[in-house]
Amino acid sequence: MIILGIESSCDETSLAVYDSEKNLILSTYTSSQAELHSRFGGVVPEVASRNHILNIEALFEQCMEEAELTPQDLDAIGVTNAPGLIGALFVGVSFAKALGYALKIPVVPVNHLSAHILAAELQNEGLEAPYLALIISGGHTHIYDIDCAYNFELLAKTIDDAAGESFDKVAKMLDLGYPGGPLIEKLAEDGDATKIKFPIPIKKRPDFSFSGLKTSVLTQIQAGKETPADIAASFQKTVADVLILKTLRMAKERGRRTVVVAGGVACNGYIRRAFEAQKGFDIYFPSPRLCTDNGDMIAFTAHKFFGQRRFASLDETAHDRMQHINK
Ligand code: KG4
Ligand code: ZN
Repeated sequence: MIILGIESSCDETSLAVYDSEKNLILSTYTSSQAELHSRFGGVVPEVASRNHILNIEALFEQCMEEAELTPQDLDAIGVTNAPGLIGALFVGVSFAKALGYALKIPVVPVNHLSAHILAAELQNEGLEAPYLALIISGGHTHIYDIDCAYNFELLAKTIDDAAGESFDKVAKMLDLGYPGGPLIEKLAEDGDATKIKFPIPIKKRPDFSFSGLKTSVLTQIQAGKETPADIAASFQKTVADVLILKTLRMAKERGRRTVVVAGGVACNGYIRRAFEAQKGFDIYFPSPRLCTDNGDMIAFTAHKFFGQRRFASLDETAHDRMQHINK
């Protein structure tokens, strides 16, 4: 099958074409709005939606050209339908529906979080559930147990900020800009990660909490005694320590040896190396490009679950979410 994947849940418009027989991405194009939003210090939803509208058609045409295909060669379309910014999601979903209707091909709704996790399978041939998965993105910090039938069981999540959000907020406090993750990572290269001992919040519980850590960082910045590089490095180390402690403790509890770490924060080289240094587990990451938002993971996930409704716990649509909020 030839599948087009469409991602527009946040500030990246990303489209890719996947050939399932060759297990190959034939083309992929992403337009990042990060620079546009950086002046606001975070993503402005309405600006994101409007720019998705401006970008999506050209990206589709580029994808078709590079893959040397015409739209009629497509067999299906996968599109992120949740979770994400509602207006931004609508752009991708509307484009997918219109294209699917015109071409008379199915449109497969893809949950963004499941796609982040499955990105690891796209690049690691032979990797298949069961495994434990940690997703660390701008909006989520979740641990899932995924059984061999690809049922997702949510085991732990953040009770306040997401891991990526904490990187973004600390970067803002240090006047580094947006998105914060890569900027903190860069600054931390010149710092001493052992200089400041930040506390690990709710250490004994499976859930995560990053807002107390953020406050401790702010206190350090205001005290003015430590260098920004040491603060960044010590903060990054604490995040890595927390993620490793809670994820691997849960993996042991569930008897899982295979662990997938995915989502934007999994781009972080320090966090990757810290996970890889752990003994007794097989740890898989998608490549950094496939950790941040991309159409490749959407196309791949759409193919993997084509015609099935397997994501019992991840079936949420934007519509379900609104009903939940309205209750
Ligand atoms: O998965 P993603 O691209 O979008 C969401 O679905 O949220 O994740 C974006 C998040 C942002 O918070 C960004 O600061 C963080 O991933 N991020 C990083 C790095 N690269 C991106 N965090 C730490 N280190 C990085 N190198
Ligand atoms: Zn994402």
